Amino acid sequence: MANAAAREQQPLNPLRQADDTRLPRIAGPSGLVIFGVTGDLARKKLLPAIYDLANRGLLPAGFTLIGFGRREWSKRDFEDYVRGAVEKGARTRFNDNVWERLAEGMHFVRGAFNDDQAFDSLAELLREMDATRGTAGNWAYYLSVPPDYFSDVIHQLDRCGMATPEDGQWRRVVIEKPFGHDAATARELNEVVNQVFPERSVFRIDHYLGKETVQNILALRFANQLFEPIWNANYIDHVQITMAEDIGLGGRAGYYDGIGAARDVIQNHLIQLMALVAMEEPASFSPRQLKAEKIKVLRATYPVEPFDRTTARGQYTAGWQGSEKVVGLREEEGFDPDSTTETFAACTLQINTRRWAGVPFYLRTGKRLGRRVTEIALVLKRPPYQPFQPGQTESLTNNAVVLRIQPDEGVLMRFGSKVPGSALEVRDVNMNFSYSEAFTEKSPEAYERLILDALLDESSLFPTNEEVEYSWEILDPILDYWAENGRPDEYAAGTWGPESADRMLEADGRVWRRP
Ligand code: BG6
Repeated sequence: MANAAAREQQPLNPLRQADDTRLPRIAGPSGLVIFGVTGDLARKKLLPAIYDLANRGLLPAGFTLIGFGRREWSKRDFEDYVRGAVEKGARTRFNDNVWERLAEGMHFVRGAFNDDQAFDSLAELLREMDATRGTAGNWAYYLSVPPDYFSDVIHQLDRCGMATPEDGQWRRVVIEKPFGHDAATARELNEVVNQVFPERSVFRIDHYLGKETVQNILALRFANQLFEPIWNANYIDHVQITMAEDIGLGGRAGYYDGIGAARDVIQNHLIQLMALVAMEEPASFSPRQLKAEKIKVLRATYPVEPFDRTTARGQYTAGWQGSEKVVGLREEEGFDPDSTTETFAACTLQINTRRWAGVPFYLRTGKRLGRRVTEIALVLKRPPYQPFQPGQTESLTNNAVVLRIQPDEGVLMRFGSKVPGSALEVRDVNMNFSYSEAFTEKSPEAYERLILDALLDESSLFPTNEEVEYSWEILDPILDYWAENGRPDEYAAGTWGPESADRMLEADGRVWRRP
């Protein structure tokens, strides 16, 4: 009876704390080892993100950060290095107390990836940390290293027993792209990784999925009634996905030469954006359901041929970026002037599903373009009949829903409106939702979200081995065609890519947006 009375006093369907996804999610006892900690990505993104997580109170008390690299660094040297990176890159304010606590748990292990002794010392250090800092045998290994080293590091982790958790512990591996050079190499890499780590312990990073606006694609589509009815081939004429950057290669020529724009960002970021826009509604947002829907749509996606007409690629030449004069690709330090690596890539994809048959998805990306912008534009068909006189709708273009991923994050709708006055004239207008105006909360950096998710075992935002392989299969025929067909075209820095990119859409009677 007492129990029944107590039950009656409880609210119906009380929200258990663990179910309330609005509450901050704090990682449990754990530590992180970063391989490639002296690299660009670690310095600019990972280390500041770790500090920001600590500062927001989302890391456990004994959190331990171990750097592994070839420098002859003491613990103190490593702390100074991390502090420099944090002061430069963190989003949250520097707080001495947070820093002191984080720095206590920082260590550096010196060694190369084929150095057995260094990995033995690392394993020893992990055991010591488990005993003294309460990391409880829970470790994530972040591979921010060139793919040639993946297999060395994975094998070393295996050899020293660092990949195998004891009961109640976990071991995870977080892997940075590029994940393979094509479908075949991606498959080989997946095999190497999966021989040591089961797929559920592998977290492949695609940092675009960590971006707030990318996650909002699903909220926008599936939390509203407004968009989904038009989200199909009956209403959509075509989709344009643009990731334009104003920066050039800078110091990254060594990484980029031989990779190029398509492998660097279309295979991962842009195809993932396409999958989120095109996938069917998942039964729930559980990682399993979400991935099942993404895989379904990736399997139905093909590149449209003939590639001489449906794709374009280019290399930037010298030009102006705003008021700054910039050099061309071939003058960039460390870049082979004879290289055929593209810095601009565009392609046409088709999705063979009932929802999307006949709707081209145009994907483009480039360095040194007019401005930095990433957006997805769903361009609608024209109404079947328009009861206007010739001239009244002359300057009206197709309606469009534009998801602006960055910068000026938001959603824009373009439609026609009557121009005020006694005459009847209809012109394009824009209705604009802007994150920064609608919300006071600032979005966390993508890497903050992804590192925290990996520590929490939340895998929704990490592409699986299958997703990676299918994405390569979509792109491989285009890459093969390019490899056999001479040099990329040229485009001047500060423009919107080579003329062949414009011709590609003109041939379909369409034009690229100029965001
Ligand atoms: C990376 C690419 O994945 O994304 C870079 O390797 C590119 O070439 C970068 O510059 C862009 O990321 P963001 O978040 O600035 O759009």
